[in-house]
Amino acid sequence: MLVILKRDDQEISRQAAQLIASAVRKNPALTLGLATGGTMIGVYRHLVALHKQGSLDFSRVVTFNLDEYLGLPAEHPRSFHHFMQENLFAHVNVDPRNIHIPDGTIRGNYDQYCASYEEAIRKAGGIDVQLLGIGRNGHIGFNEPTSSIGSRTRLKVLSQETLDDNSKFFAPGEESPEESPRCAITMGIGTILETRKILLLATGAGKSAAVANSIEGPVTSAVSASALQLHPDVTFIIDDAAASQLTQRDYYLRVLEMTALLTPDRLS
Ligand code: PGA
Repeated sequence: MLVILKRDDQEISRQAAQLIASAVRKNPALTLGLATGGTMIGVYRHLVALHKQGSLDFSRVVTFNLDEYLGLPAEHPRSFHHFMQENLFAHVNVDPRNIHIPDGTIRGNYDQYCASYEEAIRKAGGIDVQLLGIGRNGHIGFNEPTSSIGSRTRLKVLSQETLDDNSKFFAPGEESPEESPRCAITMGIGTILETRKILLLATGAGKSAAVANSIEGPVTSAVSASALQLHPDVTFIIDDAAASQLTQRDYYLRVLEMTALLTPDRLS
């Protein structure tokens, strides 16, 4: 597990975009796992800028998003489909046939649909690089606390903390209650652990407990992101505020210095 400490979200976005861009340049047919949320907006802005400068080609890239709210159609302004269009897909040359996002409008046979999402990931050869945010409660994707570490793509009930965090996006009066989602379709923790490389981004003091518990706490289903300790290639990219509860900061800084000397491609 590599912990990259950065000053602010600008530096985090730049670092994450740089790592994704070099992975795409090395393998133009990369399968990329994508995430939504405020933390990702800067990353996508940088990737769009690199594409517009002509230095990043997405034409053969295949994407799989982590999750989608149940009940929201793609065109809904709060859907993750819409978020991805707005922030990335509409501005780069990803082939729409290569874009995969769980369908929030499915009804009924959820297990079958979720198994088909897993099958699509397998058929694409698995996910090479997975981007992750983290919730204040330690969730990755919508794997809320107590999600099984072996879980696969499935229907998940959102926790109260997540509902509270999301309420700013679903303001009362703006959306009818039935449009404020209570559930989501999300890749499982087991699905995420099978990806080849993981980049987890976190900013702000609100994430500091979740970050410390994930990196330095025990592996527990009470903090979904702690399961990443079982993965062989995870990089946390976090700002000072999100790092504020880590106890081993000096060690991470020394590791970073040595990484820059010995294996610099892990940083660029
Ligand atoms: P955020 O969401 O980037 O909007 O904080 C992260 C998450 O809940 O996974």
